[in-house]
Amino acid sequence: MSAPATVPGLDRAPTSHPRLLRWVHEVAELTTPDRVVWCDGSDAEWQRLTDELVEAGTLVRLNDEKKPNSFWARTDPSDVARVEERTFICSVDEADAGPTNNWMAPAEMKRLMTELYRGSMRGRTMYVIPFCMGPLNAANPMFGVEITDSAYVVASMRIMTRMGTKVLEAMGDDAEFVPALHSIGAPLEPGQQDVAWPCSETKYISHFPETREIWSYGSGYGGNSLLGKKCYSLRIASVMARDEGWLAEHMLILKLTSPEQKVYYVAAAFPSACGKTNLAMLEPTIPGWKVETLGDDIAWMRFGDDGRLYAVNPEYGLFGVAPGTDWKTNPNAMRTLDQGNSVFTNVALTDDGDIWWEGMGEPPAHLTDWKGRDWTPDSGELSSHPNSRFCTPITQCPILADEYEDPKGVPISAILFGGRRKTTIPLVSEARDWTHGVYLGATLSSETTAAAVGQVGVVRRDPMAMLPFIGYHGADYFAHWIEMGKGKDGAGDPSLLPKIFYVNWFRRGDDGRFLWPGFGENSRVLKWVVERLEGRAEAVETPIGYVPTPDAIDTDGLDLSAADLAEVLRVDPEEWKPEIPQVTEWFAKFGDKLPGVLWAELDALKARLGVE
Ligand code: GDP
Ligand code: PGA
Ligand code: MN
Ligand code: MN
Repeated sequence: MSAPATVPGLDRAPTSHPRLLRWVHEVAELTTPDRVVWCDGSDAEWQRLTDELVEAGTLVRLNDEKKPNSFWARTDPSDVARVEERTFICSVDEADAGPTNNWMAPAEMKRLMTELYRGSMRGRTMYVIPFCMGPLNAANPMFGVEITDSAYVVASMRIMTRMGTKVLEAMGDDAEFVPALHSIGAPLEPGQQDVAWPCSETKYISHFPETREIWSYGSGYGGNSLLGKKCYSLRIASVMARDEGWLAEHMLILKLTSPEQKVYYVAAAFPSACGKTNLAMLEPTIPGWKVETLGDDIAWMRFGDDGRLYAVNPEYGLFGVAPGTDWKTNPNAMRTLDQGNSVFTNVALTDDGDIWWEGMGEPPAHLTDWKGRDWTPDSGELSSHPNSRFCTPITQCPILADEYEDPKGVPISAILFGGRRKTTIPLVSEARDWTHGVYLGATLSSETTAAAVGQVGVVRRDPMAMLPFIGYHGADYFAHWIEMGKGKDGAGDPSLLPKIFYVNWFRRGDDGRFLWPGFGENSRVLKWVVERLEGRAEAVETPIGYVPTPDAIDTDGLDLSAADLAEVLRVDPEEWKPEIPQVTEWFAKFGDKLPGVLWAELDALKARLGVE
């Protein structure tokens, strides 16, 4: 089928940006949609799109009294998570993608995907979404434009990004932007009945770091389709950050106020589904401490004129793991969701039009599960997919910090790395210095979760929680982190840098239960971190870093046995010794490019552990 000469709506472009117009025309010609819609981000547009999605069966409107202006979505059972096997960094030179990424030559990937995109929007609407990651009034606003044939993506992008007319206006005629092309890869033939969640078995999530382009095909799941998030703000932005001397990281940002009214900003990198959203919205259990939220997934960190590292959250919404979210664990998320204006994907639906998931108290007698089937507590299956998600405006978060819209960001005092480990890794330790902290990040390990397709519960190295998101060679990424340790312009004052810590909320006892209660009680760990920054908390020097003495953790009012506290803080050299060959093998993957200082850190650790 040849492309129609003009596609309705194509000429109704509310912009005269030449490069944008050229690209939109090219894509329309290639993908041959029935019509083109330029998204304005208005309430009326949201109304129209959600009505259409309800009509199509993709969304179910929730009970307005429970969750106003909110919707329930179920994906195809095969389209539930990020697809790391199908994610590619298409640098010109294969060596630039490094050993941790899938690679294909850009010309080859473009040839292959061009054939997939040819006619792929047939029978559908092509939406053009101008968006901005981070505040629009930034010195250099970070623009993108996503083209998609999914109205679910448009609705979700409206929650997750600043988008629409105001962005197009700010772009003018010559702003740089990241073109991000998305198609679900499910063309509709005339008369063909659509399905509720169209997608393709063939999936590609491709990134072209040199030309700063994103091409995604075949999946509607958020992490694969909301291209401002992982694809732009982490994979492409990490390349920009390397080139320009900043950091694009998989980190939450929180504001912590001590009882003495001292303010600290903390960033924390944990792999997907390992506690970022919960920590970002934490309700402290210790008196006098206050947490406010700045971001729950991504931090862009640049040096300020004062030589400190300032973090901005580029996102506008929360795309959080639903199961486990409850009034007890994360009341601020519940308060955010109760205001509505949200999309819930792959959770369960209650008979009175609300949502439910595992961890939300006693299960109701009857639900409709994430596969659309009747569910009762005896069903013997989960009602919600383990990677089911809520998508909700961050501005609804009752503890959003005032600094959220400040394009300058907030100066970070501490960086926490962490993962999900049943054994070995203590509740918290402090790095000896920046380089040791980079070593801790570079060797971060965690059990895999349902956030990505594949086996769950397998320990893997996930450097800085960025394994699926580093847009270039991992060794160059480590070198960039080491370089950042020299401060602003490589000649700053390293004492102004954040101190680095490593946490593990997930250590278990011999009987399999979590040793540490987690959630709001993690405020006790934040308190120790602050007291370390202030030089007044006790720690013991262990082979792996500084670990709190049992007395140094405030356990006032906490129901935790002395034995469990000792166990959760324990550093056992015998448990650590098997990590050494694993780290050696991990580092060897990077060949000669691995910064020598990281080998030196490993050698020093071996010496401290008494390993040959
Ligand atoms: P994110 O994907 O990194 O943002 O992780 P989330 O904050 O969404 O948490 C992922 C899962 O881990 C959810 O099921 C949470 O309930 C659970 N979780 C988060 N924090 C803790 C904690 O401190 N302890 C325990 N045991 N589970 C936690
Ligand atoms: P998460 O975000 O880190 O909150 O799980 C989504 C993801 O990383 O896939
Ligand atoms: Mn994430
Ligand atoms: Mn999260």
